Amino acid sequence: MHFYVMTLFPDMINNAMSESITGRAIRAGHISVKSVNIRDFSDNKHKHVDDYPYGGGAGMVMQAEPVYKCYRHIYEEIQSTYKENRVSLRVVYLTPQGKTFNQKMAAEYANEENLVFLCGHYEGIDERVIEKIVTDYVSIGDYVLTGGELPALVVMDAVSRLVPGVLNNCISAHTESFSDNLLEYPQYTRPENWRGESVPEVLLSGHHQKLAKWYREQSVIRTALMRPDLLEEAELTQEERELADKVIKYGKET
Ligand code: ADE
Repeated sequence: MHFYVMTLFPDMINNAMSESITGRAIRAGHISVKSVNIRDFSDNKHKHVDDYPYGGGAGMVMQAEPVYKCYRHIYEEIQSTYKENRVSLRVVYLTPQGKTFNQKMAAEYANEENLVFLCGHYEGIDERVIEKIVTDYVSIGDYVLTGGELPALVVMDAVSRLVPGVLNNCISAHTESFSDNLLEYPQYTRPENWRGESVPEVLLSGHHQKLAKWYREQSVIRTALMRPDLLEEAELTQEERELADKVIKYGKET
């Protein structure tokens, strides 16, 4: 998986991605991250990339041409790595006006070989270049940030961990929150007794069937408590449905 990021703040992208699990994935060659500075494509002697909005109003707007040149630079670089036919690219524009990012979109993006991100700043980007190059409009939630870099990092992080090899425990990406529209069950580690609180008995039993049943039940209970909205899309047995309904009605101690 090769990520390309068009940004005015490449250090923000590179610094964050080079840490922790994504950093390890880069060093192991499972993913690559290339940040390209839009400012490098400014023709202006002061390297400005923004101007006043037509029609007036507050703030500045990023100009179309530096963004377009930056995109063409990335586009040519990607195409040059393919010998034959040109590949189509997904260009993701991070904007609060986009579709709200979720685990399903992360899984879909993880199937791509290349993903290009466009991070805006100021009051936005000239609409003409957006219309020319962008394929996907993505938001990370209903709030407004100062730029697209943090959202791009959020998306890249969520996608990276679904790329084969990135997580050393290959089943963990399947048993976790949101797969099957259920939240993950609670986890415990040593000591067995922590300040008077003990670990649920079943976890010490080593009985695989009982464990699997407990994990599943806990996921249903958690989801019913924390995110009952997810249960509409979850595939539950009759028994699990009844458990969820009881938890919703009477709370945790049913
Ligand atoms: N840019 C500014 N706010 C954003 C958000 N919530 N999601 C994606 N991009 C953004």
